[in-house]
Amino acid sequence: MSDILKAIRLTNGNGMEVTLLNYGARIASIQFNGQEMLVTYDDINGFLDDDLYLGATCGRVCNRISDGRFCVDGKSYQLAQNNGGNCLHGGIDNFSYRYWTVEEDSVTEQSVTMTLHSADGDQGFPGDLRVTVTYRLTGDNQLHIDFNGQSDQATPINLTNHAYFNLGATSGQSLQLQLMSSMRLNRNDKEMPDGSFHNISGTDYNFRELTLVGQRQQQTQDPELLAMGGFDHCFILDNSPFNEAKARLVAKQQGIEMRLYTDQSAIQFYTGKYLDGQFQSYEGLCLEAQNYTDAVNQPHFPNSILRPGQTYQHTTVYEFRTL
Ligand code: GAL
Repeated sequence: MSDILKAIRLTNGNGMEVTLLNYGARIASIQFNGQEMLVTYDDINGFLDDDLYLGATCGRVCNRISDGRFCVDGKSYQLAQNNGGNCLHGGIDNFSYRYWTVEEDSVTEQSVTMTLHSADGDQGFPGDLRVTVTYRLTGDNQLHIDFNGQSDQATPINLTNHAYFNLGATSGQSLQLQLMSSMRLNRNDKEMPDGSFHNISGTDYNFRELTLVGQRQQQTQDPELLAMGGFDHCFILDNSPFNEAKARLVAKQQGIEMRLYTDQSAIQFYTGKYLDGQFQSYEGLCLEAQNYTDAVNQPHFPNSILRPGQTYQHTTVYEFRTL
């Protein structure tokens, strides 16, 4: 592990180029069809001061843990409350702010693996956890992200990638979205799931048909969307085979489409209200494939506990096409 910022470039012979950083195991850039697909910093050193999670691998547990507290096997744990009273994206010194080790033997033109050791007690979590993220660019313009983890004690885990997509447009609002979800998690007044599910058919949360994000967001009368200033919700993915896209984003003017494939159970769809500094609110949007929010505190949500001897393993693919 070294605290020197390193960039790794993957290319696929079709003109697609992906830049990854050892800092936060981040995606700094995806160049496709001569355009930048992500909201990004012009200079990679910009990522060192980033608090917006641009392109980052979030963990040990991405998204929010209610009151930063949970209980595993009868023992309770208190994490940092770095977001209101909740713990966000793994705590104060979370995985996005760490230098990951680039496994030098793994580096090829198309692929790289980065590893991180998160010690027992890191940010309050139990267990010595080793995680790896492998990025692989294919000849057919797919970026595969494989997440892997093993721990010597039971620990919650939920890793995601936090890229903000704009597909070359100046705003995420001009993108069309299709999201194969019929249900979302209901939220309480502390921005946390209350444990119940909301059937979203016939509501402004239904993106099962391709929908212009900005139009939906600007025309909505939904009180929660109005109060929140956009989407920042956990959508439960319909059950379908891996090779059927769970989400599609289309930039009509740029003639570009992105398809997202994942074996995760949910997507946090976030329209980027909090983008600030050199960025504008809503300049890009996130489709964060992950487990249900706060699964560690909701016994009826899919399991989020990794136990000794088990392997945490998830894959998300971003595929780029021209229209
Ligand atoms: C998202 C989260 C947002 C915001 C953002 C980081 O994953 O849902 O509420 O915290 O990360 O700015």
